[in-house]
Amino acid sequence: MADEQTQEAQRSDGEVARDGGAPADSLSVTDNRTGQSYEVEVVDGTVKAMDFRQIKVSEDDFGLMTYDPAFTNTAACRSEITFVDGDNGVLEYRGYPIDQLCEHSTYLEVAYLLIHGELPAPEQQEAWVYDITHHTFVHENIKKFVEGFRYDAHPMGMLLATVGALSTFYPTAKDIDDDRERYISAVRMIAKMPTLAAFAYRQLLGLPYVYPDNDLDYSGNFLSMLFRMSEPQYEPDPRLTRALDNLFILHADHEQNCSTSAVRSVGSSRVDPYSAVAAGVAALYGPLHGGANEAALAMLDRIGTVENIPDFLEGVKAGDERLMGFGHRIYKNYDPRAQIIKKNVDEVMEVTGKNPKLQIATELEKRALDDSYFTDRKLYPNVDFYSGLIYEALNLPRDMFTVMFAIPRTSGWIAQWLEMQDDPDTKIARPRQIYTGRRELDYLPIDERGSGKPRHPPSTPLKPEATAPGQ
Ligand code: CMC
Repeated sequence: MADEQTQEAQRSDGEVARDGGAPADSLSVTDNRTGQSYEVEVVDGTVKAMDFRQIKVSEDDFGLMTYDPAFTNTAACRSEITFVDGDNGVLEYRGYPIDQLCEHSTYLEVAYLLIHGELPAPEQQEAWVYDITHHTFVHENIKKFVEGFRYDAHPMGMLLATVGALSTFYPTAKDIDDDRERYISAVRMIAKMPTLAAFAYRQLLGLPYVYPDNDLDYSGNFLSMLFRMSEPQYEPDPRLTRALDNLFILHADHEQNCSTSAVRSVGSSRVDPYSAVAAGVAALYGPLHGGANEAALAMLDRIGTVENIPDFLEGVKAGDERLMGFGHRIYKNYDPRAQIIKKNVDEVMEVTGKNPKLQIATELEKRALDDSYFTDRKLYPNVDFYSGLIYEALNLPRDMFTVMFAIPRTSGWIAQWLEMQDDPDTKIARPRQIYTGRRELDYLPIDERGSGKPRHPPSTPLKPEATAPGQ
């Protein structure tokens, strides 16, 4: 063991060479254009893209860049928050396995864990829950702002706008180096997200907004703001609050996904955290990210009956359809979140009654996992395959599903934003491009230009076609 440690230390010093030449923790690169060789340091299984800039064909060459348009093999940061092992279906927050957190913890405790790095001691837990509970109300003008949306506004669009609007209500949040400002912004966002989401829901249905009830826990209060009518106090079913809390835990963070990368990228400009989180909400809105649960349920509706599953799967294989709620950029095995949600579906349906779509979903999963098209491509159910069934059982309209994802992901976005502020490697995000366009053209006067096809024409013209008089 001692020998191993010495060897390890020597290697990281770069002093020991396997072949007596290059250091062991390095990559030797030969540029076949010039025949020149370079040593590039390997740290934590990565090489620095900037180390390739030295590789040039001539003095005035810009130097080699790496090309990775969707960051499929590029680490954009160091993080201690969430560990995902996609090949083995492992998910841990700050080292704690997701199944243990779902079994023993609460969403607010998990939010504390993500942000502060440790599970809270009793007095820390009490102070945290107090702080969150006492910041659930929003300024009355936010209410008026939500009231201003059209009757059919999508609640995710309303959430996106109201989270962004919060930055105007808390202008001191832009002092992002101030610890107190950072903390209060984190508390406000986690506390107010359910209020904003519930206001958007009530606006959608044309119902009066329900103010927060600070006697209820986080999930119970959210259900109250969604569903309370004339009763003096809403009494949430503990099985439903538990299931909801579980869903919130499962969705709290997922390392450098599209929306988290958006929060980090926008946050790298040193904008206030409300604006950075609004970018996360926008990214989550898309059907390939948070919008997939909505799309998965619409797909189950389209399939309609178990008998239609084979035809549907043939359509997917022919490339006419996508099996929504299946596949993941990172998980090449069963998404561990999907496994936990599946158990929650049964519990929720004990309270709300069976939904026939559950049978279609279960059968669809079984048949897809029996089919080499899906197993060869390592396509397994992801978190969104079953979550929509729970939301539907809770009587939520489909437009609300992505909003249900945004509420808990807020704690992850904030934890990542805070981590980024303290990381000495943080710089404004600014990818490079490979320019493929034309260069150095001379400006053409309008009457000398041809009328070539525009690159992005509308499928139908916006301007009505001129009609002949009398037609
Ligand atoms: N249905 C059918 N084929 C699929 C699917 C799918 N859901 N997902 C991937 N494939 C195929 C894809 O066509 C490709 O096949 P081929 O090699 O023959 O061209 C192969 O599998 C690899 O797919 P990819 O598009 O390169 O994979 P990706 O890592 O770029 O995409 C994904 C990941 C999640 C966008 C994609 O799997 C997908 O569109 N899934 C459906 C949408 C969905 O459920 N999204 C929720 C993700 S989990 C929640 C979250 O994190 O937001």
